[in-house]
Amino acid sequence: MTETKRIPIILDGDPGHDDAISWVLAHGCGQFDILAVTSVGGNQTIEKTTYNTLRVCTLIGLNAPVARGCYHPLNTEQMNAPTVHGESGLDGPALPEPAFAVQEISGIELWARVIRNCDRKVTIVSTGPLTNTAAFLLAHPELKDRIERISLMGGGCLFGNWTPAAEFNILVDPEAAKIVFESGIPILMAGIDVTEKALVTPADFERIRALNNPVSDIVWQWLEFFYRFHKTMGYEGAPMHDPCAVMVLIHPEIFTIRDFYVQIETCGDYCKGATITDWHGTLGKTPNASCLLDLDREAFVNYLIDSIRTYGEVEK
Ligand code: RIB
Ligand code: CA
Repeated sequence: MTETKRIPIILDGDPGHDDAISWVLAHGCGQFDILAVTSVGGNQTIEKTTYNTLRVCTLIGLNAPVARGCYHPLNTEQMNAPTVHGESGLDGPALPEPAFAVQEISGIELWARVIRNCDRKVTIVSTGPLTNTAAFLLAHPELKDRIERISLMGGGCLFGNWTPAAEFNILVDPEAAKIVFESGIPILMAGIDVTEKALVTPADFERIRALNNPVSDIVWQWLEFFYRFHKTMGYEGAPMHDPCAVMVLIHPEIFTIRDFYVQIETCGDYCKGATITDWHGTLGKTPNASCLLDLDREAFVNYLIDSIRTYGEVEK
C-alpha cells in the first residue's frame, strides 16, 4: 500500500503480551503509517512498559519515535497486573535489548508534534489505560479536531474482567476514560464482549510457530505464556484483547458493531470503572461509541497470521 494511502496512527499501550501482538499486527499488515509509539502504566509500571515498548519496536523493526507516557493515572493509585503478564510485564521469551532510546520529550508532547506535522487527521490506537489520551486532550485542546478517531481496547458493555463491573484498562484510570468518552471524538470500543471471543488457540500457536521467522518465533511463545494464566480461568485460547483495536481498523467487516451511549462510572463501591452502556437508549442521548460485540474468529486469526508472515518477507 502506498505511503499516502496508509492510515496515520499513534500506538499507545502498556506492553503487555497482547499490546505487543497488536503492534506486530499494526506494523506487519502494511496498512498504517505509525507516527509514534507511547507507553502507559497498566500491566506494569511505566518504567517497565517503556522498556518493553522499546524492545518490541526493536524486535519488529518499527522505527517510529518512542516516548514515555504519563507516570501515573490522573487521579488514582497505579494498579498493575503481574499475575497476567509477569514481573517484567512481558515475561516469556528473551527479547532484544532496545536499539534506540526514548525521546527526550513526553509522550503527549510527541503526540502534539506528530499530529501537527501530519497532513491528515490521526487515529489514536489505545491498548492500555486512557491516561495519555486524556492528558493530551487536556494539554492540547487546540489539536482535538486533528484526531480522526480513537480505537481503544477497554470496557465491556455487559460485564468486567478485573471486577464484576469493570475492565482493567478503564478501572486503572476511570477519570481519564470519562474525559475520553465525553470528548466527542469518534470512538471504536473493543470491550471484553468481543475480545474474550478473539481467542487464539494452541492449534493456532502451532500455525504461527510454523511461520519460522524472527517475529513468529517470539509471538507463539508470548501466546503460550499469555494462555497459561487464561487457561486457569477456563479460556480455550489466549484472548487477543488489544489486537481487536487494530484489526477493526483493517477489517471492520469481520466484527459485529453497534453504536451506544456509554458512560464511565468514576466512583462507587462496586461499579467504579464500569462502562455503563445504554443498550435501550433510555437516556435519549446520541451514541458516543461504536462498540464491538462479536467477530468472525477464524477470519481474525487468519488475518493475524497473515501479518506475522510478512516478517519473513524481505520488503514489507
Ligand atoms: O482487560 C484487558 C486489557 O488489560 C488489555 O489491554 C491487557 O493488555 C491489559 O492491559
Ligand atoms: Ca494492554
